[in-house]
Amino acid sequence: MSPFRLTRILPEDATAAALRADVRHGLTTAPKSLPPKWFYDAYGSELFERITELPEYYPTRAEREILADRAGEIAAALPARTLVELGSGSSEKTRYLIDALADLHTYVPVDVSESALRQAGQALTAERPALDVHALIADFTSGLTLPDTPGPRLLAFLGGTIGNLLPAERAAFLGGVRALLSPGDALLLGTDLVKDEGVLVRAYDDAAGVTAEFNKNVLSVVNRELGADFDPDAFEHVALWDPGAEWIEMRLRSRAAQSVKVPALDLAVDFAAGEELRTEVSAKFREERVAAELSTAGLHLTRWWTDREGRFALSLSVAR
Ligand code: AVJ
Repeated sequence: MSPFRLTRILPEDATAAALRADVRHGLTTAPKSLPPKWFYDAYGSELFERITELPEYYPTRAEREILADRAGEIAAALPARTLVELGSGSSEKTRYLIDALADLHTYVPVDVSESALRQAGQALTAERPALDVHALIADFTSGLTLPDTPGPRLLAFLGGTIGNLLPAERAAFLGGVRALLSPGDALLLGTDLVKDEGVLVRAYDDAAGVTAEFNKNVLSVVNRELGADFDPDAFEHVALWDPGAEWIEMRLRSRAAQSVKVPALDLAVDFAAGEELRTEVSAKFREERVAAELSTAGLHLTRWWTDREGRFALSLSVAR
């Protein structure tokens, strides 16, 4: 049986330090905000899995449809020997790629969650005993280095998670991705697409209230990790479409004037009645903008696939 290797790039205490810095900055800067990466503790990850099954939340199904239909074309366009996946999570949709890549030698899943990497990695090595799995515990937005594995490399970033980055962060991220690749390697990128506002807003404000619960969970994370006393029910879930920026924003609106203590930061934070805390942007794309941003980073868009309803896209771009 082939080895399952796990390498920690992210230091154990880096996550705690980053949370403290993000919370301090986000709660003391107007308008208040928290980065979306802090949604994903064990309960938040479970809530996100439930979101992907909601009737209103189409991106996961749309992307899975593209992978199911086009994995063969993707593999033919870039017959990778190494597949790197950023934010691999459960690696569930990746199975389509792994099965289509006939020459695949090594799979490198990258995630901040060690437990997710162990689970997914062990399941994969059992299913595909000939495949090397070298998992990396790392934050793909900073300081990522890759093991020395055979090329060509295909780097996959699925799910539309790139939409959570602000434009400047996105440019830095794509530049960093390009720096990990050699000429001829490629990026497979999932992007949700601009569409009818009602469809978009419902995808982030579902009737069952799962997304509202997911949104408020970030407050529970701050309570648990930093001893804060947020009352999640004192905030209302808000999802809105910004037509200028072409992104969905999730916010938490304070139902009344209140003060919240964050003892680990020695901080008291006042909220006015109706004041909003931004917890996520989820940018939606058009092909021209994806091509332009890739090009700026030194990546040349060569293929563009959408689901049958044109809701979501996978693009393949080659490092020049
Ligand atoms: C996992 C970042 C792709 O932005 O659609 C789902 C997260 N937020 N519902 C997205 C999310 C609210 C999701 N991504």
